[in-house]
Amino acid sequence: MKRNVFLFMLVLVIGILAACGAAENETSTGSDSEPTSGESKVLRVGTSADYAPFEFVDTAVSDDIIGFDIDLANMIAERLGYELQFTNSDFNSLIPGLQANKYDFVISGMTPTEERDKVVDFSEPYYETEQYLVSLKESNINSMEDLKGKVVGGQVSSIQLELAEGFADEYGFTVESRDLIPQLIQEMKNGRLDGAVIENIVSENYLAQNDDLAAFPVEVEEPDYKAVVFQEGSELKAEFDKVIKELIDEGKIEELKKKWFVVE
Ligand code: ARG
Repeated sequence: MKRNVFLFMLVLVIGILAACGAAENETSTGSDSEPTSGESKVLRVGTSADYAPFEFVDTAVSDDIIGFDIDLANMIAERLGYELQFTNSDFNSLIPGLQANKYDFVISGMTPTEERDKVVDFSEPYYETEQYLVSLKESNINSMEDLKGKVVGGQVSSIQLELAEGFADEYGFTVESRDLIPQLIQEMKNGRLDGAVIENIVSENYLAQNDDLAAFPVEVEEPDYKAVVFQEGSELKAEFDKVIKELIDEGKIEELKKKWFVVE
């Protein structure tokens, strides 16, 4: 009897040890971000692909995420010897995703702000941007003064939403948010929004495809930029900064603008 118990325990212990070994193996081979000899390291990238021409999916062509930011990320990765694996997610969830270690970096036309800087790190800026107020032509909104009593939209968690909120009292309009940029456009068309604050280049894309839209620039005190976003303290920042500077100096950013923008 005793001997049977001993054998049973032995089998149990061996079983547990074997299971542990298997589990360990699984994590080391299953992890994307571990360097494996001979292959380049894979970085997990978060982006919100609702932002043509920076990041979007051209469903008529394929399911791939494409655009200015995607090309830029690929150029940087190529020079540093990384492979990239993109995940499409709402803009709102990108910083939480970095904090939860779901992404190694985010590229999504994101503007460095003091508040964001408290929880993530930003690369050198790679692009300077302006904001437009977009509306339906027929509503004759040509200045901020024309927004009195109107409803203005912005993307959740974006600086454009913040900008709208900052002007709301002064010009007497109310502000509403939507998760995705195409929803802002749709809501103007179905009358639930009178206008929306959207970045100039993204607006230009919609203007080119929608005859019924109009836009004017929103005056701001400080220019806005775009930068790559990392987990706080990430070692990738220094590597990326070096390459971003090289690409700017070599005129590669200008080439990307020519490739992707409908206007200069
Ligand atoms: N530049 C703005 C910001 O950082 C908006 C970026 C929105 N990006 C996107 N892919 N939808 O708040």
